[in-house]
Amino acid sequence: MCTVAYTFFMINKMLHIILGIFATSTLQSSSQQAEEINRLLNYFFWAAGFILLVVAVLTAYMVIKYRRREGVTNAKKQLNKKWEIAMIGVPSLLVALFFYLTIKTMHRVLPPAEGKNPDVIVIGHQWWWQTIYPTHHVISANEIHLPAGKTILIQLQSADVIHDWWIPQFGNKMDAVPGNENDIWLTIKKPGVYIGACSEFCGAQHAGMRLRVIAQDQQDYDKWLAAQQQPAAISQDTLIQSGAQLFAQYTCGGCHRINGTDANGEAGPDLTHIGSRKTLLTGLMTNNPHNLMQWLKDPQKIKPGVHMPDFFLDEHSLKALTAYLTALK
Ligand code: CUA
Repeated sequence: MCTVAYTFFMINKMLHIILGIFATSTLQSSSQQAEEINRLLNYFFWAAGFILLVVAVLTAYMVIKYRRREGVTNAKKQLNKKWEIAMIGVPSLLVALFFYLTIKTMHRVLPPAEGKNPDVIVIGHQWWWQTIYPTHHVISANEIHLPAGKTILIQLQSADVIHDWWIPQFGNKMDAVPGNENDIWLTIKKPGVYIGACSEFCGAQHAGMRLRVIAQDQQDYDKWLAAQQQPAAISQDTLIQSGAQLFAQYTCGGCHRINGTDANGEAGPDLTHIGSRKTLLTGLMTNNPHNLMQWLKDPQKIKPGVHMPDFFLDEHSLKALTAYLTALK
């Protein structure tokens, strides 16, 4: 069992070395927590490697030394007592050592939140992520902005079924369970875009429920938060105005929120600043007018099973709604 697990780990480690910078790998530590976990993993790697080597060498030695030979009988010999004690003692000590190291790492990576208020609340929905920044009264969706170089507390919740937060490079993986609040601590080392995925099967679009974290330095992060606090800016352009009317007419606001308008639904992603996002649908598509229009035209085609209904929009409605949403910067 140990050998099988070790072989898989070896393959992962080799792939990591070969693919290096191209791979989004658990072995890349982009957070302090991932660094702790990977340090522990390295201890396991070298200890298991050493044991594997010792066992392999001894096995080979025994096979050769005690092979069947003409006229030689290997007399039954009682095993030396000292060896027997060592054979039980050394593995027991190793198990105890690794138990201690594992507990220690767990405490460092996931200390109890003890009633501390989360910096960010991430809520899993079928099949998108809602983000709430409680102290700044900001609600956003799908592109999860977080500060780099600072330890933050993220609280995970779910609106429907169990989802799971996992960004391999951050190390920590945590379920979002309905009716429950799970916390993780995260210290992202450098600004950048980090990709992960929902890692608990949650229905038809589980595979399409990606995670996209945009880590920014404090200054950019504060700037982003300030921009998110602003209500949606809606211009007087005729096409955009027509789009705003259609948005109300089709009751899109029953599911979507656009801060500063009557739309205040929370069943679907917040759209207040959708025009400023780089991607659509948890990162499945680049955010541009063409893709947005394709999505509005036939949501089921792009994301089969999605809860967004098809409104059978005509060409003018598609153009007007696209113009309206694109302008929500
Ligand atoms: Cu959400 Cu899988």
